[in-house]
Amino acid sequence: MNRKKIVAGNWKMNTNLNEALELMNFIQNNSVSSSQVEKILFPPFAFIKSIKDALSIINKIKIGAQNCSEYNFGAYTGEISANMLKSISCDYVLIGHSERRRYFNETSKQFSLKIEQALKADLKIIFCVGENLEQRKSNSHFNIVKTQLNEVLSHVPKDKINKLVLAYEPVWAIGTGETASPLLAQEMHLYLRNVISQIFSEDLAQNISILYGGSCNSQNAKELFDCPDVDGGLIGGASLIGHEFCKIINSF
Ligand code: 13P
Repeated sequence: MNRKKIVAGNWKMNTNLNEALELMNFIQNNSVSSSQVEKILFPPFAFIKSIKDALSIINKIKIGAQNCSEYNFGAYTGEISANMLKSISCDYVLIGHSERRRYFNETSKQFSLKIEQALKADLKIIFCVGENLEQRKSNSHFNIVKTQLNEVLSHVPKDKINKLVLAYEPVWAIGTGETASPLLAQEMHLYLRNVISQIFSEDLAQNISILYGGSCNSQNAKELFDCPDVDGGLIGGASLIGHEFCKIINSF
């Protein structure tokens, strides 16, 4: 088993350039080394290049984009392609976030195309899945995430699965302060690993990192990360507070 431990910060549509640089610097100077935990920041598009340029070569932080276009290039006003991201040395791209599904009506078909573009550009991907409150209450959460995975990952070639990280982000836990219990997170992560095993192989399932996201903070990170199938976190609100985020990184 060769699973990477990862803590990623999704800054969403927050910070200005100075705040973004300050936050990155604080994290760089106050977190454990990247050989112990892979650290990834997802700043707004506009600041990726400046942050990349300002990174120290020691204690390397990886940088990702929060989205990419499903198209390669051309007349798509306002879109940003995976190739453009690669050309500014971006490492990762986030695809399938529930906010993209919910507010921008993005579909599995689009996520498949975006993943295809990202793979062609040689970017790594964090692909997010998760059920909403209604789906959890009606006990359909397992089927929902299985469908979300199947619809997209069945299009990913087996030899590219090592470019993917998964994130389980229950929508009812995002930004609500209500985090999944370690028991519940572990149950779902194990389930996701089984689905991956069915789509690809047991070996690939054992090697893919699965992150938890949803009101993860410095108080609950350790018990979540201690679960055998939780390989780290995708952090929203708490990643905007330098000392909080560093505590989360350092809690492995
Ligand atoms: P919060 O940590 O603010 O709940 O957000 C989680 C998230 O959406 C990360 O992508």
